[in-house]
Amino acid sequence: MRPSGDGHLLRAFELDGPLETERLILRPFTEGDFDFLFSIRSRPDVARYLLWGPQTEAQVREILDQKIASRAIREQDDVLALAGVPKGTNEVIGDFILRLVSKEHQQGEIGFIIHPDHHGRGYATEAGRELLRIAFEDVELHRVVGILEARNGPSARVLEKLGMRREAHLVENEFVKNEWQSELVYAMLDREWRRLTSEAQPLPPAPRSRRPGTSP
Ligand SMILES: CC(C)(COP(=O)(O)OP(=O)(O)OC[C@H]1O[C@@H](n2cnc3c(N)ncnc32)[C@H](O)[C@@H]1OP(=O)(O)O)[C@@H](O)C(=O)NCCC(=O)NCCS
Repeated sequence: MRPSGDGHLLRAFELDGPLETERLILRPFTEGDFDFLFSIRSRPDVARYLLWGPQTEAQVREILDQKIASRAIREQDDVLALAGVPKGTNEVIGDFILRLVSKEHQQGEIGFIIHPDHHGRGYATEAGRELLRIAFEDVELHRVVGILEARNGPSARVLEKLGMRREAHLVENEFVKNEWQSELVYAMLDREWRRLTSEAQPLPPAPRSRRPGTSP
């Protein structure tokens, strides 16, 4: 076994209000989100490549209670749970999480579910980018993973669009829903995030044109 690290202190993160992306408000879950959560978690198509099957009302109530309480990241296994609402609407369309997998090793994991009526509009990618920003810039994690069943094409595509690297294909490593399933592991490091976001900065203004008619 390797000796443990020197315990770099992560920054605690607590959600003190809604976050905003280009098209979404990301806010903590509330009691009023039961219908949304049940509408996604009771569907076999949504659960197809997840570790759980379609959930009952009682199971979803329990999950909702956990989500309502999941608004800070301080200790190992803490989860930040965010409900995504398109701006200008009151309709929740997405369920997003960032989990502190290891405090000692500064590792996190992201996850997302979008209501099927809203698939393919880039919402998971947009919220996923905000989860990575929180992970690397607010909590100061070193590495963040996304783990999915190997046949979950849309999920893999989202992680690729986020700029995460495919690190592993674990072949039939889990027996889930009466079958052997495989997993893909995607990851990003803090320095990769910094590179990605500094590349995305707008270019400095071009020198003023000297052409006649455009100078002041
Ligand atoms: C995975 C999921 C969150 C994606 O949400 P989304 O908002 O539709 O994602 P985005 O619109 O940002 O991107 C989806 C991408 O997948 C692509 N896609 C759709 N179906 C696909 C398939 N069968 N194979 C590969 N890619 C596919 C889309 O074309 C899109 O990529 P593009 O922008 O290059 O065209 C959504 O499908 C979902 O909730 N699935 C059920 C729950 C789940 O599996 N969550 C992930 C757990 S690991």
